[in-house]
Amino acid sequence: MKEAQSTEDAFTILKALLDAPDDFVSGSLLAEQLGVSRPAIHGKLEKLREQGFEIEAVRNRGYRLTKEPEVLHPALLRYYMADAAAPIEALYFPVIDSTNSEAERQLTYGRKSPFAIASSCQTKGRGRLGREWYSASADNLYLSVLFEPNIPPQQLQHFTLWAGITICRALQSFTPKAKLQIKWPNDLHCDGRKFAGMLTEAKMDADSMRSIIFGIGINLNSNPASFPQELRSIATSLYAINGEEVPINKVTARVLEAIHEAYEACIHNQTTESLPEAWAPLSSLDGKTVTALQGDTEISGVANGIDASGALLLTQADGSHIPVRAGDVTLKKN
Ligand code: BTN
Repeated sequence: MKEAQSTEDAFTILKALLDAPDDFVSGSLLAEQLGVSRPAIHGKLEKLREQGFEIEAVRNRGYRLTKEPEVLHPALLRYYMADAAAPIEALYFPVIDSTNSEAERQLTYGRKSPFAIASSCQTKGRGRLGREWYSASADNLYLSVLFEPNIPPQQLQHFTLWAGITICRALQSFTPKAKLQIKWPNDLHCDGRKFAGMLTEAKMDADSMRSIIFGIGINLNSNPASFPQELRSIATSLYAINGEEVPINKVTARVLEAIHEAYEACIHNQTTESLPEAWAPLSSLDGKTVTALQGDTEISGVANGIDASGALLLTQADGSHIPVRAGDVTLKKN
């Protein structure tokens, strides 16, 4: 109860400060909104400063927010979600095994979907193809969204590809200096290095998709020099790409909007562009020679977009196109 009240107070203070970005907000106004004394406000602002907020205080004028924390903050995320075009309840866990696993648990506890689980650290972050997802940096985002579509699964077969497109577009506005791309099928890249990966898990009934959990890990404000040795040459972060921090809580709200946009477009069959056309300008592989495993056979070819089914098209030396439908592809070394 005490903790809930303090989160509520933090939200009220942050809302007052963020709604007046260029102005000072007086201590008496904050005290009135919270129903506490002015000295009590001082203590609450100190607590926010300890959490990474920089708040300027000027005698006879009041307070102004000058910097947001580089890590997720539940009250700040709530502020940005209130403005977002996505009716998704976002729950925050400082540490969790896996946000995908927590989403599944929350469903069994009876939580109403859609909802999101956001975390600053995963102890058992999962990647695709049974891999581990490095999840120790609190400057990054670990996020899952659970939907209960109850529709035939075919309607959502391209959901992860569409989510990749809408998320890549949304993140691009935060990194004006560099081009963000998608590496087929579910990775986000910049300059040949991966900064985000997606993992979708679904539960099916006879011919209906009961629940779908879309998980994404995005390296946001971390410094790749702090990554484990084996990731340093292949991974990056938006901070490294951009040369400055991104507003992680605002970015999270935009990513949730993008996921919601992709989901709605798929379930209502209302995608306004064709998948190959939307994909083409974002693809990191087009024109490059890549190798894919098809069963036990390795095939190589020049990547040439995706088809309407989402398969990656490889052009062979004889001009024929081979569709790659699953798995991972690697760039062929010269
Ligand atoms: C990959 O590229 O292999 C996919 C990585 C997916 C990682 C995210 S982090 C949030 C969610 N929870 C998990 O355990 N995994 C996904």
